[in-house]
Amino acid sequence: MRRGFRQIMDLLEDTGDLVRIKREVDPKFEMSAIMKKLEAENKAFIFENIKNADMPAVGGLFTSMSRIGLIFNENSSEEFTLDDAGQKVIAAIENPTPTTEVDTGPIKDIVLTGDQVDLRKLPVPTFFELDTGPFITAAVGIFRKPEGHLNVGFYRVLIVDRNHVLINASGLSDLRKSYDWYRENDKKMSIAMVLGAPPWLLMAAASKSPDDVSELEVAGSIAGSSLQMVRCEHSDLLVPADAEMVIETVVDLHEMVSNTMGEFGAQYGTELAPLSEVTAITKRQDAMFYTLMAGRAKEHNNLGYLTIYGLAKSIEDKIKESIPFVKQVTIHFDTRIGPLMHVVISIAKESDDQPEQVIREAFNTNIGFFDLSWMAKRVIIVDEDVDTTNMDDVEWATWTRIGRAEKIHLFPDFVTWEIDRSALPDKTSVRVGIDATKDMDYVDDLVKPIIPGIDDIDLKDYLD
Ligand SMILES: Cc1cc2nc3c(=O)[nH]c(=O)nc-3n(C[C@H](O)[C@H](O)[C@H](O)COP(=O)(O)O)c2cc1C
Repeated sequence: MRRGFRQIMDLLEDTGDLVRIKREVDPKFEMSAIMKKLEAENKAFIFENIKNADMPAVGGLFTSMSRIGLIFNENSSEEFTLDDAGQKVIAAIENPTPTTEVDTGPIKDIVLTGDQVDLRKLPVPTFFELDTGPFITAAVGIFRKPEGHLNVGFYRVLIVDRNHVLINASGLSDLRKSYDWYRENDKKMSIAMVLGAPPWLLMAAASKSPDDVSELEVAGSIAGSSLQMVRCEHSDLLVPADAEMVIETVVDLHEMVSNTMGEFGAQYGTELAPLSEVTAITKRQDAMFYTLMAGRAKEHNNLGYLTIYGLAKSIEDKIKESIPFVKQVTIHFDTRIGPLMHVVISIAKESDDQPEQVIREAFNTNIGFFDLSWMAKRVIIVDEDVDTTNMDDVEWATWTRIGRAEKIHLFPDFVTWEIDRSALPDKTSVRVGIDATKDMDYVDDLVKPIIPGIDDIDLKDYLD
């Protein structure tokens, strides 16, 4: 079973997990304030009456992993974890399903071009006090990579005026590389921004596929059937035939414009992005505008975990392979404590020098495009009796096993991912290594109290 965008909304409405807001709301701050409060209640929503807008806005569909599970499961009480989602994507990358081009579909119900295009009629929220303006947060962008195939990713889009937008590309994205390539080769670049894409395409778009695999084919494989695609009005790009809306753009790679938005690590980020002209909007007759809460928000971050998932797994394997006495490695990516990774490594320790050695090797692990230090703020080394997946256990080890100040290592010179907004003008920002292992002289003193045999006890055997 696979549920599409509208089927998930219908299900959530049936179970009382989706609310309709009929009162008129202002897209500037009022909408985001309501979205933030609904997020706390885990409610999906439809805004039916948005000031100056000509369509409803929906969102809050994927505020938990079990909600993402609704794509595949009967109901949201069935367990669905990040590993379930991540492994589906990894399996799909290994076995992609080619797309099928069809003549038309619901996405072509209405075709607006030229003066008919007016982005100001869309219900696009301005989320935060210092945001440059309204941001489209739930669109996936489709463009042709220099290698020829169609690439898909989530990119946030600032509405500049009636028919211009800025499409933001992070330093981690293939979009950034493609912007550079099209500019250097003086080629025309088109991007189609798709709203209300099928959920399997959202999963694929959030993830990072290898260079030779299109996320459209990954999405088909997650769905279990080939994606039906239609051609854009003004380019050779293909877009899902059954999405809610497509905004077709042409990018002016020589006109770079600054814009500021509340980021997923709860900081503002200012970026330069090329100005894009909107040449067409195509949509369903009864199109709904999909919007994700911006900033540090559950729905954004649940999808965002998929961006890091495959990468995190390969880093974990790499560290385990390259350092023989490493036992367990976990990459924690938790936006409650910022946008960067925290890496926990357990070792079978034989000398007090080993933890620092592992900290240095971990930060210097090459992850394809950069060293791990680019994305990781902190590396913590623990003993084998600490569960690296359990941050409570790791915190306990940190604050019970460090006596010597030398066990905390500071690295001031690492160049950082731009998402670390505390970076200095030379793009460096401090990294921290923590040796939370027991010193060899104290191995018998700092023992964790355990109850022998507790894992063999089943309470059912003792209760009537
Ligand atoms: C909700 C959401 C919003 C995102 N916004 C952006 C963005 O504005 N710019 C960007 O480069 N990546 C953004 N990302 C991350 C990319 O979508 C992700 O890294 C994706 O793999 C990029 O695809 P690409 O490497 O093929 O360009 C966002 C991810 C999510 C889940």
